[in-house]
Parts: sequence; structure tokens; C-alpha cells
Amino acid sequence: MNPRLSDRVAALPGYPLAEIPNIKRRLLEAGVDVIDLGAGDNDTPPPAVVVEALREALGDPALSKYGFQQGLPAFRKACSAYLERRFGQRFDPVTETLPLIGSKEGLAHLPYAVANPGDVIIFPEPGYQAYIGGAILSGGQPHVYPLRASDNFLLELEKVPEAVLRKTRLVYLNYPNNPTAAIAPLDYLERTVTICRKYGILLAYDNAYCDLTYDGYIAPSIFEVPGARDVAVEFFSLSKSFSMTGWRLGWAAGRAELITALTKVKSYVDTGPFLALQKAACVALDHAEELVQPVRRLLAERRDAGVAALQAAGFDVSSPRAAMYLWVRLPAELASAAFSRRTLEEFGVVTLPGSAFGPAGEGYFRIALTVSPARLSEAVGRIGRALEQFRGSGVALAS
Ligand SMILES: Cc1ncc(COP(=O)(O)O)c(C=O)c1O
Repeated sequence: MNPRLSDRVAALPGYPLAEIPNIKRRLLEAGVDVIDLGAGDNDTPPPAVVVEALREALGDPALSKYGFQQGLPAFRKACSAYLERRFGQRFDPVTETLPLIGSKEGLAHLPYAVANPGDVIIFPEPGYQAYIGGAILSGGQPHVYPLRASDNFLLELEKVPEAVLRKTRLVYLNYPNNPTAAIAPLDYLERTVTICRKYGILLAYDNAYCDLTYDGYIAPSIFEVPGARDVAVEFFSLSKSFSMTGWRLGWAAGRAELITALTKVKSYVDTGPFLALQKAACVALDHAEELVQPVRRLLAERRDAGVAALQAAGFDVSSPRAAMYLWVRLPAELASAAFSRRTLEEFGVVTLPGSAFGPAGEGYFRIALTVSPARLSEAVGRIGRALEQFRGSGVALAS
């Protein structure tokens, strides 16, 4: 008799990126010029000064030891200094910050620290997969909130039934948002914090894209809202701002009791990020403003090229002020999974179907701004031809 799998694993939806690498590899082997606009993994290298700092750190044997949860005190100090410079918020490095093995890891482990089995955990759909993963694996009761264009893709707790709010222990918010690229106005954050305080709901504020902003927009920290410290933990990532996705390094900030609870969970499942990475990341955080500037400029150029090409090809898309994605509406009759599959298999362009972010993502597809403007225009040209082909086939594909 084979050992059986858990109900929790069975309850996890298929991971949206899971099958793409296989199809992509098959196409590349067949000589197809594949343009990958799937994962949010920029083609830019990490900053040279950070790579050099890592090289140096690798020469220090002390940094090859276990990091444990405390990690490198200098990294926590750099996180704290960044928060103070960037948002005017002071956090004690020792008790109020925590290194993470990428922010995904912390986001997914948070429910174990704050929710009992059956407690409701609210998260947005379409949304980042770590939220539903953490909710299901920890035994929480997931409550999906569908984001709507008519609400500017804001998760409005006011619209959640009061009976649900009373049972809710945790809500995930992510602005600038993946995949919709929506941003959160301060008055929205204020009313959300007010509701969280009223019902004692922990607010996990995922700010992975806070420094990828354009046209003068500056993304806030949740802690800029008065009273947020009582109810919020905020998550930051080195991945997107510094093109360090594979390094696996992020951090959390919040009041000591919450950080201590997450630390306790993590101490049973991991031993902290590699210390040499933490050392090198100090350089990134200490110079964040100057290092992010060129990435921001590059992404804005790509956004402009992508939006112009998409609109010329007949797609309905607006120009986002943050994050690194275009969230593109499909004609009503097209199912996003069928569209993205054909776009990849017949036109060699990887996009993510909206349905991969949950049923509420249907009707859209996501483009990551991870290649040059010229490649983006080429990719969008191909996507436009895929759309024409669908229209020509006269098949109603929504399902
Ligand atoms: C919204 C959001 N949060 C968090 C992450 C995870 O980032 P990290 O690489 O720090 O785990 C991502 C990565 O794509 C993301 O899109």
C-alpha cells in the first residue's frame, strides 16, 4: 500500500508556472525563438557592487556558518536604516526586523504564527500564490476576495460580510500589486487599518514592489498609517528592486510580539538566509535609492513600449504607475488559459493567463516587463497575431 498524501496538499491549486518550463524547453530544443514574459524575473543583473560584496563575503569563513534566525546583525541594521530613510519609520533592528529566505517564505509561514485551524484568512484573487499556500497548509480557512477593475483592484474589507470578519485572523494585502499593478491610496490603507483594528485582524502588507514605481509615484509603507503598528507586519524583498530573485533574501518588520511569533515558527523549519548574502545585501540596502533608479527607468521604458504595442494590437490596457507587470484585458469570449497556451505553443511567447492567479483572474493575461523594449514589441506583435487567429477562428472559448 502506498503512503497517502495529505488533504492540505490535495487542496492546493496547481502552481501557475509549473508546466511552462517544460513547454518552453521543448520549444527551445525545436529552435523556436521563445520570448519569456512569464515570471517576474528581470533580465538585468544584480548591482555589481553587491556581487563584489558577496564575493568578498564568501572569503570570510565566519559567514559560512549557520545564520539562525538572528542572522547578521548588520543586515537587520541595514533593514532598519532603510525603513527610516525611505518611510520615516523607526524599527528596532534586533526585536522588530527579521531576515527571511525571500519574502515568500515569511508570507507563507505567517499563518502558522497567528491562525488556528479553521480561522479565516482573507487574501486577494488574482494574487500571489504564497497567500493561499500559507492559508491552506497552516489549516486556516481561506476566504478569497475577488479584485475588480471597478474597485481599482483594491481589497475592500468593508465589502466582506461582518460574520466573516469576526472569524478572520489574517488578511494579505499587496500594493503595488502583482498581477494587476494596482496601487493603494493612503485613504484606502487608513480605512483598512481601521477595520483590522476593530476586528483584531493581522494585516500582512506585502510590499515587494515598493521601489518599482514610475511617473513620480512613491509607494508608502503600511506603517505610515497611524495605528498600523498594532495590527500590521510588512514584508520586503531584495528580489525585484535589485534583480536578486535567486539569492532568496527578504525581511519582515513589525512590532516585537509579532516578529517573535514568526521567528519562533521559522526556528522550527529553517535556519535563516545565508550570512554572506545578508552581508552583501547590506550594500544593496545602504545604496537602495541610487541602485534602484536605473532599474526604475528601464522598467518605465519597457512599460511604455509594451503599453503602446498592446494598444496598437487592439488590447485594452492602461499604463501602470508601479510594479513590473501589464495586466491586459482579453476580449470577453476568450478563455485566458487557452489564449496563453496558444500564444506560447504557436507564437513562442510566455505570458501568464489570468486564471492561473485564481478564477477571479479570468478575462486577463499578465506580461512581465522582463525584456528589452524591442523584444517586448516583438512579443506583443506575436500576441496580437494570436488574438487575430482566435478572432478568425470564430470559436467562443470562454469556459
Ligand atoms: C507580490 C509578491 N510578493 C512576494 C514575492 C516574493 O518575493 P521573494 O523573491 O522575496 O520571495 C513576489 C514574487 O514574485 C511577489 O510577486
